[in-house]
Amino acid sequence: MRKTDAEIRELIAQMTVEEKASLNSGDSMWKTKVVERLGIEQMWMCDGPHGLRKQENYADDPDINDSLPGVSFPAECAMAAGFDRDAIAKVGTAIGLEAQARDVHMVLGPGVNMKRSPLCGRNFEYFSEDPYLAGELATAYINGLQAEGVGACIKHYMANNQEFERTTGSSEIDERTMHEIYMPAFEMAVKNSKPAGVMASYNKVNGTYATESRDLLVDDLRGKWGFDGCVISDWWAVHNRVPATAAGTDLLMPGTPDTIKTDEEVVAAVKDGTLSEKELDERVFHVLRMVYDLLATHREGIKLDFERGHKAALNAAESSIVLLKNEDDILPLKKGIKVALIGDFADDPRYQGGGSSHVNAAGQTYPRTEIAKFAEVTYAQGYRKAPEPRHLTGVGLNVKVDETRYEPDEGLIAEAIKVAQAADVAVIYAGLPEDMETEGDDRKHMQMPPSQLALIDAVAKAQPNCVVLLQNGSPIEMPWLSEIKGLVELYLGGEAGAEAAAKVIFGDVVPSGRLPETFPLKLEDNPSYGNFATKDKVEYKEGLYIGYRHYESKDIKTLFPFGYGLSYTTFEYSDLKVDGRKVSVKVTNTGKVAGREVVQLYVGVKNCEVDRPVRELRGFDKVSLNPGEIKEVTFEVTDRAFEYWDVKSHDFKKAAGSYEVQIGKNAHDIILSAPIA
Ligand code: BGC
Repeated sequence: MRKTDAEIRELIAQMTVEEKASLNSGDSMWKTKVVERLGIEQMWMCDGPHGLRKQENYADDPDINDSLPGVSFPAECAMAAGFDRDAIAKVGTAIGLEAQARDVHMVLGPGVNMKRSPLCGRNFEYFSEDPYLAGELATAYINGLQAEGVGACIKHYMANNQEFERTTGSSEIDERTMHEIYMPAFEMAVKNSKPAGVMASYNKVNGTYATESRDLLVDDLRGKWGFDGCVISDWWAVHNRVPATAAGTDLLMPGTPDTIKTDEEVVAAVKDGTLSEKELDERVFHVLRMVYDLLATHREGIKLDFERGHKAALNAAESSIVLLKNEDDILPLKKGIKVALIGDFADDPRYQGGGSSHVNAAGQTYPRTEIAKFAEVTYAQGYRKAPEPRHLTGVGLNVKVDETRYEPDEGLIAEAIKVAQAADVAVIYAGLPEDMETEGDDRKHMQMPPSQLALIDAVAKAQPNCVVLLQNGSPIEMPWLSEIKGLVELYLGGEAGAEAAAKVIFGDVVPSGRLPETFPLKLEDNPSYGNFATKDKVEYKEGLYIGYRHYESKDIKTLFPFGYGLSYTTFEYSDLKVDGRKVSVKVTNTGKVAGREVVQLYVGVKNCEVDRPVRELRGFDKVSLNPGEIKEVTFEVTDRAFEYWDVKSHDFKKAAGSYEVQIGKNAHDIILSAPIA
């Protein structure tokens, strides 16, 4: 039964300081504490965000990959490429139903940190380099999930943009950049979807641990954005218990004998007056508000239904696939042809990242089987997929990549050439091995393993009709791009990724994904270059100029711009109209097949009174159009598009300048524009 605020306050009034302190930390890995004397029950949390990682036997075996089977949804990098609020909301719904069936009350996700560098080992678990896109998609996910009565815990607040020294490093960011770039995705999701939890991150922000920052946890989150849920620490992210409790960390996780011991520090601090009991009462109130709300919305009798989840996973995967190159219209492939399917990933696909978001997929699909549904397939391994990561435990994870394992294998390459020559087309599955992008470690460079580079090179020389399908969670360099005809970015598509990919390359599904991040030509072009994964302190020297804001404002050529993606059909734009803040534009499908277009609205500014990127994404919509069909797409541009964070008033303020609404195929290719004020 849900309790009112007054009833919870009454309960707290009956508690001893010891009981209050005990509720300020968790019980074991995934639960809150019980207080038997007062009939307080516990709730379950579990990772998130790409499906459920419920660990029933975690006490006996702490291997993070040892969890109950669940539906593996596309990783956030892929979900984001759909630019598809509806598909993500359906993923949220499906995860919510699975959580209900598994008696889980809260899912730890989604992650909305900005992709500051392509090297961040956890980029696959985040949506974008753009705060508006990340905020919109997180909102859709959370609304879908929470509508099923399961809480979301948005993470990792704040500025947790690298894995190197993730538990000790400090992200040094100026106030304006923080509010315009690193906070808005959290802010939008908090305001528009009211997540039950916010996870305070491991790192420091400007020298103060996120778990100890009252500015972040109370002033901004609760004060300015109206958050009324529970602030939960990342696992073992509380370094100093009393300052964290005083600063607004409501729940320390996990509860281990060591962490639970720090409850005594809280009791002592209340007794000697260093922590006010009123403050502790607030922490307990937020924990109990969450527990009672989520216990009340728990539904008995929901059946585990992996097929239902798989449908949502497939729908999101289909929407997410990005066609990057299609010379001579090599794609879609004709059904029934001879396909040389090459690459270890075609046999054993990479469909998720490593670490806490790992799901033991209930319904994994395999490229070899899926492609064989459409064509005659001969397979060659081509290179060796990395071995699975070792037994992963604990917070640092400490995964180290041994790159010597990726040397080209002449024998495998020779076999691939033979198979490629005997077929009509070569389809190569390539990308990044799991140990090159996983929680706990950043990449050192943007290259693919040498074994795969050599393979693509050799196969492209042997077979002119060559298509590469990529499985990776973050941008890579593509020295081989001019050698191949077709290129498809699959990202990490979850258990249905292989099924979706086969449908796309044979034309049953028309690709409609767009890159939610820039693919730079080389790492050195990335604005964080030289200031990423540095020791102790990481200076965000590029300020507002993250991702396309940098490439577009400074006119730097990219491999593929933010928002880029092709289709099997063509779209034309016309009739851009601006009426106050209402914008409308007409889109026509001018090709021969039905398709989906992502209409992207940017607001650009010239002669601005403050320094500003040339354009920023302020709206997007995904529309389905039959051949010849015209649709009018409308947007409402909000005040935020015209504002900047003013460090004197510590608030957003309108910036004088000449504003323009721009409709773009992507962040670089603007098709129509009109003044807006
Ligand atoms: C990760 C979180 C995750 C938590 C619980 C941490 O190491 O940073 O994202 O939710 O572990 O598994």
